[in-house]
Amino acid sequence: DTRALIDSFGRVATDLRVSLTDRCNLRCTYCMPAEGLDWMPSDQVLTDEELLRLIRIAVTELGITDIRFTGGEPLLRKGITEIIARTAALAPRPTISVTSNGIGLAKRAVELKEAGLDRVNISLDTIDRELFASMTRRDRLPHVLAGLAAAREAGLSPVKVNTVLLRGVNDDEAVPLLRFCVEHGYQLRFIEQMPLDAQHGWNRANMVSANEILDKLSAAFTLTPSPRKRGAAPAERWLVDGGPAEVGVIASVTRPFCEACDRTRLTADGALRSCLFSQVETDLRGPLRAGADDDEIAGLWRGEMWRKLAGHQINEAGFAQPIRPMSAIGG
Ligand code: GTP
Ligand code: 5AD
Ligand code: SF4
Repeated sequence: DTRALIDSFGRVATDLRVSLTDRCNLRCTYCMPAEGLDWMPSDQVLTDEELLRLIRIAVTELGITDIRFTGGEPLLRKGITEIIARTAALAPRPTISVTSNGIGLAKRAVELKEAGLDRVNISLDTIDRELFASMTRRDRLPHVLAGLAAAREAGLSPVKVNTVLLRGVNDDEAVPLLRFCVEHGYQLRFIEQMPLDAQHGWNRANMVSANEILDKLSAAFTLTPSPRKRGAAPAERWLVDGGPAEVGVIASVTRPFCEACDRTRLTADGALRSCLFSQVETDLRGPLRAGADDDEIAGLWRGEMWRKLAGHQINEAGFAQPIRPMSAIGG
């Protein structure tokens, strides 16, 4: 396909992650400080029209087949339902997913499903209310659990749950969380913590590694490798007690999966990123507002992807975090 978004290593990007806002209604300690961050000024955030134009170009000119809306917290974006509906109206229709903290989903799951949302991934680091309140600095666990249930009821399937374990904080939560998710039919994935926090507080010794996670789970469950194909998915999966339930581990640090990467990213303020860890970006907002046509935008997009690096450099000497924190990239 001559339209394919290809990088210089031959990887083809078919998966676009679009950050709808850098704001969030939680304050997870491993993500941002209690006071929040300097949010993007609203005139720098792409309008719905601008965003939808870029998404249309990605789908119709660049071969993108999967769109994921992220944040910050994407449900804080006012126009999200219409953005999803108009994305679903593109031909060929891309699959549409959202990564959310689940707050506000209870009220909106049906509406989002009807707009064309296919599935959701919900962040949940503990099912203990007090621990949730101290990890997120907000007492909102019941809202998240209601959001999860509503997503399942609305048919947003599979409902996936994302968990980051922090040593000495919620690392005892792995087994209870998996029990909870198996019981409720949610697909749980544990994520190795990555150096992307706004406070630059990540360190390797505090990161709970994939091997440690698997050891903890193996004390309570029998895990066997999932027979399903992994493809470009970040998660390696295991059957839980013979299946059909599965658990995943996203081991970005200790078992990188960059060689299969199929992703391209757009931030809420219109920057293209070829990698979560890129030190460089391509601004599309400027050209867009200066009247660039679709071909020019597509050309800029191809150029950004062509300079994508072979992988993140987390395990290499001299690694430096990208300037943008996770919450302004979209994960
Ligand atoms: P699925 O398509 O449902 O598997 O989604 P996903 O796991 O790719 O996306 P999600 O937004 O749920 O992200 C889960 C975790 O994976 C987050 O911590 C992301 O930052 C991380 N992640 C997502 N994409 C990438 C990637 O391309 N590289 C790395 N290193 N991590 C990623
Ligand atoms: N490393 C790994 N995952 C992270 N998340 C947030 N910050 C980090 C980090 N530094 C998780 C969130 C959410 C998902 C989108 O990314 O908890 O589940
Ligand atoms: Fe792709 Fe970069 Fe993630 Fe590696 S770290 S999988 S190259 S986005």
